[in-house]
Amino acid sequence: MPMMRAGVIRGFGPPEVLRVESVEQPRAGHGDVLVRVHAASVNPIDCKVRSGTNRAILPPRLPWILGLDLSGVVEEVGPGVTGFRVGDTVYGSPSHRRPGTYAELVAVDARELAPKPASLSHVEAASLPLVFQTAWDCLVRAAALGPGQTVLVHAGSGGVGTMAIQLARHLQAHIVTTCSPRNAELVRSLGADHVIDYREQDFTQELSGLDVILDGLGRQTQLAGLPVLAPGGHLVSIASGLPAQARTWGPWLGLLVTALDLAWRSARARLSGRHLHHVIRRADAGVLLALERLIAVGSIMPVVDRVFPLEALAEAHAYSETGRARGKIVIAIA
Ligand SMILES: NC(=O)c1ccc[n+]([C@@H]2O[C@H](COP(=O)([O-])OP(=O)(O)OC[C@H]3O[C@@H](n4cnc5c(N)ncnc54)[C@H](OP(=O)(O)O)[C@@H]3O)[C@@H](O)[C@H]2O)c1
Repeated sequence: MPMMRAGVIRGFGPPEVLRVESVEQPRAGHGDVLVRVHAASVNPIDCKVRSGTNRAILPPRLPWILGLDLSGVVEEVGPGVTGFRVGDTVYGSPSHRRPGTYAELVAVDARELAPKPASLSHVEAASLPLVFQTAWDCLVRAAALGPGQTVLVHAGSGGVGTMAIQLARHLQAHIVTTCSPRNAELVRSLGADHVIDYREQDFTQELSGLDVILDGLGRQTQLAGLPVLAPGGHLVSIASGLPAQARTWGPWLGLLVTALDLAWRSARARLSGRHLHHVIRRADAGVLLALERLIAVGSIMPVVDRVFPLEALAEAHAYSETGRARGKIVIAIA
């Protein structure tokens, strides 16, 4: 049987449980495209799945190949697929239920792929899909951010933040962001109008009357952010922010506590006349077509921090878990 190299977990734990192994190649099922992966990227959710902290929400069937972003070349087209041909260069992000891009080959639902923007390398293209789709779902779909509105993007120098700032600039919003001083120049170059050093400054003392907050940090910043929003403003959360104690109660009780806590936070926002949205990004290739147009006019550019070879996946995860990535961590495969 034909084999390939892939980044696999056979149990939960630290980065070292993620090993590169020889495994059976996937085939393109009905509606699928088999892609030869040239580059993948690391997202914090990959680390959460690997460590087991997310296993109540996204239970993986072990052994499990991680990876949710890809750029590569179509190797085989499954039955029922009309939009792609062998040899096409594509990029995309499969749904959370069907990852597997840390591999030489991956079978992906054709509806989750789009043609790779010609001006980008595979490394650059693989850095974009999941974080751009997330920024889009938050700012366009959830908050309907518009010209002249003010948005606070927390963690502006991270994977989602670097996309959210550029998208907000395209939407002609006024942009405030938080990061450490070493990243202030980067976020300004992407379009931030006002930068807050979160280690020295308290955003709740500096800001008021915001239209939108995009928060990937969690519970504490979300609760602190509500009073800083204008009445009718939108707090868009992409991090549920499990209360710290819940992690020690086991996954199922932790999940229940998180669900109740999210409902309580939403009710609290409603009572204060603000909107709280909990966003889980959609693996929507239509958004990638919009992204291609924004790349073509220079509104969005990739921000790649470090590139690791497939063999150094554990190192790449350890780096992601430092919480210090500037933009994206990419895995070069082909
Ligand atoms: N719900 C969804 O669908 C969805 C989708 C994507 C991501 N997420 C989640 O969103 C979160 C962010 O994802 P990401 O890919 O952007 O992560 P990331 O790239 O790993 O974020 C790293 C950045 O976070 C910044 N940072 C760390 N602590 C900070 C703080 N207290 N205040 C401000 N900035 C801080 C760091 O900036 P400095 O080095 O300058 O401190 C660094 O540049 C993760 O929890 C991820 O799982 C959710």
